[in-house]
Amino acid sequence: MKFFIDTANLDQIKEAQALGVLDGVTTNPSLMAKEGITGKDNILKHYVNICNIVEGDVSAEVVATDLDGMIREGEELADLHEQIVVKIPMIKDGVKALKYFSDKGIRTNCTLVFSAGQALLAAKAGATYVSPFLGRLDDISTDGLNLISEIRLIYDNYDFETQILAASIRHTMHVIDCAKIGADVMTGPLSSIEGLLKHPLTDIGLQQFLADYRKGNS
Ligand code: E4P
Repeated sequence: MKFFIDTANLDQIKEAQALGVLDGVTTNPSLMAKEGITGKDNILKHYVNICNIVEGDVSAEVVATDLDGMIREGEELADLHEQIVVKIPMIKDGVKALKYFSDKGIRTNCTLVFSAGQALLAAKAGATYVSPFLGRLDDISTDGLNLISEIRLIYDNYDFETQILAASIRHTMHVIDCAKIGADVMTGPLSSIEGLLKHPLTDIGLQQFLADYRKGNS
């Protein structure tokens, strides 16, 4: 399972990268705005800065909603850096854009996916990644993990190469459950990754080992 961090915060990205288990970054316009990154030039520079920190894929989202606009923006984003993956919303022109980029060998991440049907369409159009938003489904009392399972089943039925990027991860159990289902990638906050290392018995055990060592070596 690949680990992506879902943020545009450079300090958090550096911290995740330093852990040694980071495979990429996802961003979206809201995450960029949260960091105060505004204006086209600053936004493009920020994507390059992110690419220079991580070794893996960096999703950069288009804001156009028509085919020509998405193609123009997506090509500009893809030209920025070889690590850029163009993030395209699951709308009708988005599906056409996925197909266009797929035919050109430009990698894509189909975002805002909330149903198995949308995920099927994204795979048919040749998306590199599909991003089902499981946390946002959970938020409205709908089982987000069930959607990940449905997509896994459909993709395996037909050997689709599109990778399932479980998005809108909110906590560590989401990561573990997605790994059990077989999602190819998860993207979430740093806390969802760091939560994986925590166990009270590890802390208690370590304290005991160190105390016993000190007794015999003081
Ligand atoms: C996916 O790529 C999105 O950036 C993200 O996972 C959305 O998460 P949220 O629902 O926590 O905003």
